[in-house]
Amino acid sequence: MARILITSAIPYINGIKHLGNLVGSQLPADLHARYMRARGHEVLFLCATDEHGTPAELAAAKAGKLVAEYCAEMWEVQDRLGKGFRLSFDHFGRSSSPQNRKLTQHFAGRLADAGLIEEVTEKQVYSNADGRFLPDRYIEGTCPNCGYDRARGDQCENCTKQLDPTDLINPRSAISGSTDLEVRETKHLYLKQSAMRGQLSEWIDSKTDWPILTTSIAKKWLNDGDGLQDRGITRDLDWGVPVMKGEEPWPGMEGKVFYVWFDAPIEYIACAVEWMDSGKGDDWERWWRTDKGADDVRYVQFMGKDNVPFHTLSFPATILGSGEPWKLVDYIKSFNYLNYDGGQFSTSQGRGVFMDQALEILPPDYWRWWLLSRAPETSDSEFTWEAFQQDVNKDLADVLGNFVSRITKFCRSKFGEVVPEGGEPGEAEAALTRALQTRLTAYEAAMEAIEVRKAAAELRALWVLGNEYLQSAAPWSAFKTDEARAAAITRTALNLIPFYATLSAPFIPDAAAAMHAAMGTEPAWPESAEAALTALPAGHAFTVPDVLFRKIADEEREEWQQRFAGIRT
Ligand code: MF3
Ligand code: ZN
Repeated sequence: MARILITSAIPYINGIKHLGNLVGSQLPADLHARYMRARGHEVLFLCATDEHGTPAELAAAKAGKLVAEYCAEMWEVQDRLGKGFRLSFDHFGRSSSPQNRKLTQHFAGRLADAGLIEEVTEKQVYSNADGRFLPDRYIEGTCPNCGYDRARGDQCENCTKQLDPTDLINPRSAISGSTDLEVRETKHLYLKQSAMRGQLSEWIDSKTDWPILTTSIAKKWLNDGDGLQDRGITRDLDWGVPVMKGEEPWPGMEGKVFYVWFDAPIEYIACAVEWMDSGKGDDWERWWRTDKGADDVRYVQFMGKDNVPFHTLSFPATILGSGEPWKLVDYIKSFNYLNYDGGQFSTSQGRGVFMDQALEILPPDYWRWWLLSRAPETSDSEFTWEAFQQDVNKDLADVLGNFVSRITKFCRSKFGEVVPEGGEPGEAEAALTRALQTRLTAYEAAMEAIEVRKAAAELRALWVLGNEYLQSAAPWSAFKTDEARAAAITRTALNLIPFYATLSAPFIPDAAAAMHAAMGTEPAWPESAEAALTALPAGHAFTVPDVLFRKIADEEREEWQQRFAGIRT
């Protein structure tokens, strides 16, 4: 059995995440973690909040709170919502942790020793109205690359280009809106990423199995010339990891902090240290140090496409540049954007459905199923209330839910709440077994390859096979003439429930647990469709479960459509 390290891009602390954020990293990462655990692998699944930088400061200021206090509160909220969506992190950490502070300062020291850090006196935008420098998101303006007029000083959300505040056209302060800006000199540390071009390029070229989306973005930034520019890794801010060279002070850098994108990915490592320090974990180095056994680990990262340059270039530059034996990522699964009803989901503009709101409306499985089965893998995809209603009603209620309810109720009424005895499987069962086996093999292959939509389609097809079998074998008709035949059909169909529960659990864990509970079974990955169909012996007791999935009515859908048409305040 393998060891698999899984990280999801760590969400910014600045507020509750929307469904587009969720499906771009945390949710598919959870799907993979659950699947790999179900297959018996040893998994370490980590996520955290990304607490430094201007997004956190701006959000805290808006909420009228101290940044530290704001972050602590929002961590609680995100932790609770993560649990609400059944995200099965082994640890949900915080990039503001002492463990991350120490590691971030450590990496900076190593990079400096390796000659990869340069002290640069540079020009930064200073706001006279605000009386401070305006790094990154403290400044907004028009993107010089695509013309998007709400581009931020660190990156254009529209075209994903990484920016410097001085690149923006018509810049304005994000704090006050003031355009009374000037350029002042200030000293900063730069990471000489360009010195590592050869090493990075070779590494990326060796990743021939990566998804096209990941590789194309990585290569674009690598070869575009400016993607691998040396980047400032410090900022004139109060909130963040203080600039230190390991444990030594850094002369001339007093009062400055590391750039959020420098310390955030290091939190992937620090999170494992937090996991151990919290008493849940054993030895974090087994997962992260190739000299301590991490050579055997397969490391998979999940993220939205705007995060790809940081994970394929900047973070690997930090890790490789340290000259220490850290584990590098093996596979990067990235996602396009999920749009909301004809526009973009937007945190800053409060547009779309947010995690807390989603859970107020419906339980997590409904969302998990829809989001994953429509994951924006090969192109952007769109959330519409119509599509959501239609898929939930069809896939979850009509196909899976109805199957479970129909066969358990039929059995109860004719044979009682036990798997019935008698009859032998015949040609219909043999055909069902063959069809299930083909789909099972395809499902496993798609899950291994992290082809999320494909996997969902195969799973749905497995559910459909059960329904079709039940419909055509029609135990209710057979029962009138041949009770033994009806018993054989019923037994076969009942066996499908634990089979479906186990296979579906990565997508819909609550329903899967309810199915196992009703059938008195434990999750165990099936050896084969044939073995699964004969797993429950005659006489095995079960109970009829409550309705697994309810249908969404047209009126409800319209009401939600109305309610979420506007902007969240
Ligand atoms: N907070 C970033 C975002 O939401 C992701 C950071 S991922 C990490 O886009 F690499 F920095 F950890
Ligand atoms: Zn742009």
